[in-house]
Amino acid sequence: MKSSAIAHSNIALIKYWGRSLDHNPNLNIPSNDSVSMTKYGLTHDVHLQTHTTIDFSDAYEEDMAILGGEVLTGRKMERVLGVVDPLREYANVDYKFKMMSKNDFPTRAGLASSASGFAALAIAAVNALGIDFSKEEISTYARLGSGSATRSIHGGFVYWNKGNSHETSFAEQICGPDEFDMNAVVAIIHEGKKDVTSDVGHESAYTSPFNEARIKKSQEQAKEIRKAILNDDFSEVGKIAEENCKYMHAVMMTSNPPLFYWHPETLKLIKSIQRIRKEGLECYFTIDAGPNVHCLCASDDICEFQRMLEEIECVNKTILLKPADDSYVTKEHLF
Ligand code: PMV
Repeated sequence: MKSSAIAHSNIALIKYWGRSLDHNPNLNIPSNDSVSMTKYGLTHDVHLQTHTTIDFSDAYEEDMAILGGEVLTGRKMERVLGVVDPLREYANVDYKFKMMSKNDFPTRAGLASSASGFAALAIAAVNALGIDFSKEEISTYARLGSGSATRSIHGGFVYWNKGNSHETSFAEQICGPDEFDMNAVVAIIHEGKKDVTSDVGHESAYTSPFNEARIKKSQEQAKEIRKAILNDDFSEVGKIAEENCKYMHAVMMTSNPPLFYWHPETLKLIKSIQRIRKEGLECYFTIDAGPNVHCLCASDDICEFQRMLEEIECVNKTILLKPADDSYVTKEHLF
């Protein structure tokens, strides 16, 4: 019972930050709807994807998960089991498993490795166990590992309904990768691991006095941005995404304890993007739980925009992105 999958990462345009207090925190049911672009890295060796193989067999005496050569233990293993255990239960299988997974990009650098990781795990496990699920149903199991993974099951532009139960908190596609013209350049200013993972950060959102306002606005903006994507309105999508990113970081910075994911260079880049935009090249920024900046632009402008970003002293490297296709099952196994 072996299967493998490749899943892409995603960049949130409307952010998920904080779990709903009305549900078991292990379900990762968010406090607001969110929207993202599933991303495909155009650099020859970095596509921002995870390749995972999982095998269920009575030959294994215990569950084992290996990510990039590291045998997972503690909270990391707990999160893998958070996806696999309910699927094993659903399929009525009690075999142990071996899982092996590798990312083609650095983990924990704000490039959303948990999104592609748990999406790949959910797809591979569902397929290995022979469960007949729709993509929406698979997305609910990816969510049990990491909230943002819910959206990585689909390609293109994706809407995650917050829902109010395990079954109703799922992601659906807004449109495919070729139906809305938006690309991005990731400006990498720092590749080290961040101090506080988003898994832990979600717990502190409620301590910010601005969180209620962020939840209310995000709920409205999720619907507005979906409409703007379907209307092919890049300017509107960019403006809403930038606003929403600032709301999330305002909450992070005003939480207790405060979370400052930005580095001084992050602000420098924000200022540069504002300047480039003023000079006539339309672009917008968004930043996840890390210091690196995703710069959104139209596909025709991506090379010009990359050149301008690479001229900025603090930019170590750039990764070009376009919307990815759906994540998928592959016959290529890692073991
Ligand atoms: O899926 P998590 O727990 O890694 O949370 C993701 C949080 C953000 O990346 C900051 C926002 C988002 O919606 O992806």
